[in-house]
Amino acid sequence: MQNIAKLAPAAETLPDTSVPIVEFRNASKSFGAMQVLQDVDLKIRPGEFVCLLGPSGCGKSTLLNLTAGLLQPSKGSAHYRGEKITGINVKTGYMTQNDHLLPWRTVRRNIAVPLELAGWSKADTRRRTDELLKKVGLEAFADSYPSQLSGGMRKRCALARILAYDPETLLLDEPFGALDAQLRLLLQIELRNIVRESGKSVLFVTHDVDEAVALADRCVVFSARPASVRHVINFDLPEDRDLKTLRYNPKYQEECARLWKLLTPELDRQAALGGKS
Ligand SMILES: Nc1ncnc2c1ncn2[C@@H]1O[C@H](COP(=O)(O)OP(=O)(O)O)[C@@H](O)[C@H]1O
Ligand SMILES: [Mg+2]
Repeated sequence: MQNIAKLAPAAETLPDTSVPIVEFRNASKSFGAMQVLQDVDLKIRPGEFVCLLGPSGCGKSTLLNLTAGLLQPSKGSAHYRGEKITGINVKTGYMTQNDHLLPWRTVRRNIAVPLELAGWSKADTRRRTDELLKKVGLEAFADSYPSQLSGGMRKRCALARILAYDPETLLLDEPFGALDAQLRLLLQIELRNIVRESGKSVLFVTHDVDEAVALADRCVVFSARPASVRHVINFDLPEDRDLKTLRYNPKYQEECARLWKLLTPELDRQAALGGKS
């Protein structure tokens, strides 16, 4: 029997004819007199891991809010699989900057929230939460309360909760920002494994250049507010990269340097504005 997988051309050599999973068409957003996003044109391909990078306050979280359907653009449009996003986008799982765990619920019952909302049976909820607790390494803390968890465990719990209903696209807003380096690496490895296994698309906001290069297939750099797309960078790193040893890989170091170089004029511009954006 022929091995079809072997005969098929590599994915990266195929023409990119797929409908973008997320697309912004000339999208602008203002809050009153303050313009936050300006003419953002961006296409995210299905299964892509894209990092969004830009100065603090430029509008990155706003872009995730538009993708989740919590906000609408003031001008232009936001689309999901070709359809205009007009209300809550249930295809996305959104981990906001604050983890929003419910303090009166145990870890297991926090993870179960989306399943309860979707009307899952008790038995199915139990099975699914068992699976998720294992996936994020929190089995031993299933009955603990958020206040009894470390910062890293809280993030794991929040991650498990958004994975609970298996959303097609993950929107992660600086999810690992406040963690120590080791824990951050562990969670980055877990996230990449989960994403690679499931083929999910990811929009990941970070202000950390090294993290962006380590995790992303592509990185979008925004200008200071009002944010517009300044650069889009494809990283030339293997899909099955080992995050534990990546920092010693010269190609990784090269990509980090390339990204830093692109950011420097932006920093200079901000400095010239006296840090006001
Ligand atoms: N719902 C809102 N109403 C009014 N202003 C907002 C709202 N959301 C964000 N902003 C403002 O828009 C700007 C960009 O915010 P945000 O998207 O959170 O930036 P970033 O995530 O890049 O730091 C900030 O000045 C913020 O205060
Ligand atoms: Mg933000």
